[in-house]
Order: sequence, then structure tokens, then C-alpha cells
Amino acid sequence: MPSKSTPRAFRHAPEFRRRLLRWFRRHGRDLPWRRTRNPYHIAVSEFMLQQTQVARVQEYYQAFLARYPTIEALAAARPRAVRESWEGLGYYRRAANLHRLARAVVAEYDGVIPSDPEQLQALPGVGRYTAGAVASFAYERATPVVDTNVARVLRRAFHPRTKVSASHTRLWDTAGRLTPTRGKTAWSFNQALMELGALVCTARIAKCGSCPVRQACKTGRLTSPQPRGPARQRRGRPRRSR
Ligand code: ADE
Repeated sequence: MPSKSTPRAFRHAPEFRRRLLRWFRRHGRDLPWRRTRNPYHIAVSEFMLQQTQVARVQEYYQAFLARYPTIEALAAARPRAVRESWEGLGYYRRAANLHRLARAVVAEYDGVIPSDPEQLQALPGVGRYTAGAVASFAYERATPVVDTNVARVLRRAFHPRTKVSASHTRLWDTAGRLTPTRGKTAWSFNQALMELGALVCTARIAKCGSCPVRQACKTGRLTSPQPRGPARQRRGRPRRSR
């Protein structure tokens, strides 16, 4: 809710959230990892999605889970077998990290992936982004999630003058400010931000003309002429109504 202490940069934040959530309900893709809250499944999807396109991950995700249906099964596997199951996805360090994570969770947490972002970040291969993603997407914790796509959306929407290289901490702060406090809504909001970055507000081009949040976005308000709502009053003396 906007209050007297809401900085100018965020005065459109409630509208941004509302529009984004509505758009996501209509246009969000039906992806397998959006149909589950199983923390292990979410962790597998997030490790795969680091550096790999959604379409490609979809080809491998189910097969990997069929081979290692539980975190215990993965922890018990031989490193070579895990690497083989990852073949085709590339960046094998991710497979090694996921395997080490599974072993750590079985050894230290009795096989239950923690929900606390700080505990998650202490696990192998888990940075701030993946910790937030598991906390939000598996446990519906109201925590921010900032990956490259989300960073781009937030920068364009709220900090268009901030240099890409300088804005990391600032964007996490912005995401924290925007994330809804209700966990279920935060889940949708975080998925929706990623979806907007993947489908509309892309790296190559910001498709402001078809963007659902352009009215609440600093870049969108500058780049696309907005249809006016009710006729605006002219400057000068107010006209007398009859
Ligand atoms: N990339 C990382 N996590 C994702 C998710 N949950 N949906 C789509 N793309 C993603």
C-alpha cells in the first residue's frame, strides 16, 4: 500500500503488481515446475534453468525425476551416473552441485530441503537467487527472487537510469519492496515477473506496445504513447462546469 513514506519511484508499485498478476493469470505458461510445490522437484528445475532455456529444460526435467524420484535416490547415486543423466544440458557443474546438495540435505536435514533462504544459501550451488526461488516456489515464502530476467524488468520499470553493473543490490531492495506479503501471492508475483522478462520485456527488445504493466513502468511510460483515459483538463484557469 502506498503511504506517505513511499518514495516517488514506487508510486506505481500497487498498479504494477495488480496488472502483472492479472496478466500472469491469463498468459502464464503451464510449466511442469509450476504445478508442484515439491522442494526437491523445484530445486531440480531451478538448477536446470540456470543457463538453459525453458524449452530445453522441459525435455530433461521429467526424465531426470523419473530416474531420481526422491532426494535420497539422487544422494545415493554415483557421480558418474548423475553426470550421464545431465548429458545434453551442459554446464555439468550444476549437476555436481545438485548432487552435493542432495547429499548435504540428506546428511544434515534428514532429506528435507530447508525453507529458510539463509539456510538454503549455505547449500552447495545455491546463491541468493536459487535460495529465493526454492523458498518462494516450493514453500510459498514471501521472499524476493531476482534473476537476470527479473533484474531487467525491475531496472526498466523502476530504475531506468541505473547502470546495469551497479544495480544488483538496489534491484534486490526493489524486489523486496514489491513482493506481496502473502506467500501465495508472492509465488504468483515472482513467477509473473520472470514470465514478463521471458516473454515481453526481453533482453533483445522491450515490447512496450503489448506490455501489461507499461502504464506503471518508467521505461514504458516514456517509450509508448498511452491512450488517454478521460479527457485531461487543460492547464490554466479551470473551466466552469455547467
Ligand atoms: N527460470 C527460473 N525459474 C523459472 C520458473 N519458475 N519459470 C520460468 N523460468 C524460470
